Amino acid sequence: ALAEQAKRVADEFNFGPDAVNKAVNEFIREMDEGLGKEGTELSQIPTYVTAVPNGTEKGLYMAVDLGGTNFRVCSIQLHGNTTFSLTQSKVAIPKELMVAKTSKELFSFLAKQIENFLKTHHEDHYYGHIRRRDTGGATKEQEIFNLGFTFSFPVNQIGINKGLLMRWTKGFDIADAVGKDVCALLQTEIDALGLPVRVAALVNDTVGTLMARSYTSPGKTGTLLGAIFGTGTNGAYVEKLDKVTKLTQSKDSGDYDKSTGEMIVNTEWGSFDNSLRTLPNTPYDIELDEKSVNPGIQMFEKRVSGMFLGEILRLAIVGLLKDPTFPLFRDENSAQNDIHSTTQIHDSSPIWKQWGIDTSFLSICAGDNSPGYRMVRQTLDKDYGITAVSAEDAEAVRAIAAAIGRRAARLAAVAIAGIVINTGRLDAPGTATTENKSGIDPPRGDADLAEDDVIDVGVDGSLVEFYPSFEDHIREALREIEGIGEKGEKRIRIGIAKDGSGVGAALIALVAGRVSVDTE
Ligand code: BG6
Ligand code: GLC
Repeated sequence: ALAEQAKRVADEFNFGPDAVNKAVNEFIREMDEGLGKEGTELSQIPTYVTAVPNGTEKGLYMAVDLGGTNFRVCSIQLHGNTTFSLTQSKVAIPKELMVAKTSKELFSFLAKQIENFLKTHHEDHYYGHIRRRDTGGATKEQEIFNLGFTFSFPVNQIGINKGLLMRWTKGFDIADAVGKDVCALLQTEIDALGLPVRVAALVNDTVGTLMARSYTSPGKTGTLLGAIFGTGTNGAYVEKLDKVTKLTQSKDSGDYDKSTGEMIVNTEWGSFDNSLRTLPNTPYDIELDEKSVNPGIQMFEKRVSGMFLGEILRLAIVGLLKDPTFPLFRDENSAQNDIHSTTQIHDSSPIWKQWGIDTSFLSICAGDNSPGYRMVRQTLDKDYGITAVSAEDAEAVRAIAAAIGRRAARLAAVAIAGIVINTGRLDAPGTATTENKSGIDPPRGDADLAEDDVIDVGVDGSLVEFYPSFEDHIREALREIEGIGEKGEKRIRIGIAKDGSGVGAALIALVAGRVSVDTE
């Protein structure tokens, strides 16, 4: 009986082919709307990046990355033959800084991490600079590191290294930063420490991912889309410049190179369909949103990304536990031969607290095929203080968790399909007839597809990396989408661009070259 009842809950997360197709149409509508004007659901932010790399770029650059699970500092040596070496350090961002009183607290922490990194990994460079500075010598241009700043929040970009924060996402909330130029905020703190570092480029993680993917696997047609499915979700893609009318027809836009006829656009698809015209909306989605720091926005992200999926599951489970007739985690439901007869949920179990279930638990559920779901039961016991769980209980939790994960992947397919269809990439002939076995990076030269037919998508983030079968679920939905179908799905190559945004930011810093930051 539990299995049937759990299935009913799982079915609340169904997002079938019709719903998927409606959402794709809405995605395309919102893409076009966002290219034409400000204040739309899909922000469609012009990034001022007008070309993707081809793998021949060279040099030593720095990058910092704020906005995922970790804050990272790295230096990147681009070798110019599609390879690079990367030195990096990462720290978890202290929770209190995410909601600090002033942005100075956050940005001075970031600058301090840059200083530590230089002292550890570029000693000669750092101490040489300090010695010269303290003896009154001038900084030499070639000693300054150009730094790409990956800042993964919606920013209204007004130049390659200038952008005003539109709003925080993913649980950050520091009021005084909104509306400020985040490059200037960082440069000010870097200068206060006297570091030989210039913030040369401002980059969203999706743009970094797109650039990195293009550098490491430059196909003839380049990478179309860089997407993050991690703590948050978002995508950036290559758009025809003349479609970005809110930029090309604006009198006060900054300078940009028009020669390629293209520009990378940061969609900020986390806010796709905030008005819920086509997105699914269960009671759990409603409750999650109401109790979030930003109700009513990032509605797509709240159904797709790692920060939220655990919480959706938690709300579903807690809802069931409140119903005395629902047989989850109740003794009578233990298998008769189960020696543990009493399931207990400790009062201190994180399950009772907002954000108490981590999305990694959904990955564990999806990956556990052991008899009796041992891993799921162990995790419930060790991490969640729920002891003596029966196999039936574990199976019920698993079914609900799987439905939430599958819905997330099907929504991810909506965004990918919207971009593939609306950019017209599928309209090129496409001779794909044979099977693209795994869908993941068919080896070059030995691919079943002609390279011209491949539509390359670079992805990164903990969800796509660790959630089993996330890509399979995406592909299943892609095949159901009008305008993609089985043939189109085979042409879409999805490949991880791991830690891509550091390399991507370096590449943009390279392009940005000698731009100076105005710290006012
Ligand atoms: C990292 C990128 O690999 O993935 C970051 O370097 C990005 O820029 C992150 O934000 C996204 O994943 P998560 O799971 O950390 O949010
Ligand atoms: C959030 C941010 C976006 C970022 C994404 C992935 O949606 O608003 O800028 O790209 O998370 O990290």
